[in-house]
Amino acid sequence: MQDAKFVSKAFSRIAGRYVLANHVMSLGIDWWWRRVVSQRAALHKPQRILDLATGSGDLAAVLLKACPGAEVLGADFSLPMLRHAQARRLPALIAADALRLPLADASFDLVTVAFGLRNMASWPEALREMRRVLKPDGHLMVLDFSLPSVSWLRRAYCWYLREVMPKIGGLITGQREAYEYLCTSIEAFPSGQDMVDLMRQCGLGPVEVRPLTAGVASLYEASVMARPE
Ligand SMILES: C[S@@+](CC[C@H](N)C(=O)[O-])C[C@H]1O[C@@H](n2cnc3c(N)ncnc32)[C@H](O)[C@@H]1O
Repeated sequence: MQDAKFVSKAFSRIAGRYVLANHVMSLGIDWWWRRVVSQRAALHKPQRILDLATGSGDLAAVLLKACPGAEVLGADFSLPMLRHAQARRLPALIAADALRLPLADASFDLVTVAFGLRNMASWPEALREMRRVLKPDGHLMVLDFSLPSVSWLRRAYCWYLREVMPKIGGLITGQREAYEYLCTSIEAFPSGQDMVDLMRQCGLGPVEVRPLTAGVASLYEASVMARPE
């Protein structure tokens, strides 16, 4: 759970360099992760998609290509990030807090959130809000960082997160603090079975987990539970 003011300011400050920093620090793999999401999304043949925490619109843009004919609405609470999404000519964008969406109940076939849930002030509240706007037969796809389950790999990755990432992120964006936050947020964020349990408690399930790149990121796909547990 994060401090919303800090998060909003941090992303607004790095907005201009966010995409470049992502591609450099992940060696371009983040592009492939979003492609996996868009390919999986297309299988559901959604008509209305909500991309939460859309930021500079990286995922929204690939969803538009993968789901031709679908309406893709991008939402974010950082205006500087949304300006970058606007520059990409994404057709539908709104400034909104994912915890209090100005959107009707049961109005989307698919909700996606890439590298966004981890940054929100309350993960359960955010997941319940996602469930609220999903149609009863809708789907949720959450892509976010996770920690590899193999212990030596997890140790090496944590070292990279703590020692290398803040330096590179700081060099590219001039905002080292934002990347120190990124490292602690990844370590604190539930992953694997913990995330599955959280989603189920929020009325989502069954949940499918797909570890990506040895578990450095994970894609969680859930449908709406008829009766929340
Ligand atoms: C790491 S970026 C992810 C952007 C994009 N989804 C991507 O794949 O690159 C996280 C985004 O989440 C947004 N965000 C964090 N908490 C939010 C909230 N409560 N409501 C709306 N946007 C939020 C930030 O403003 C930021 O643009």
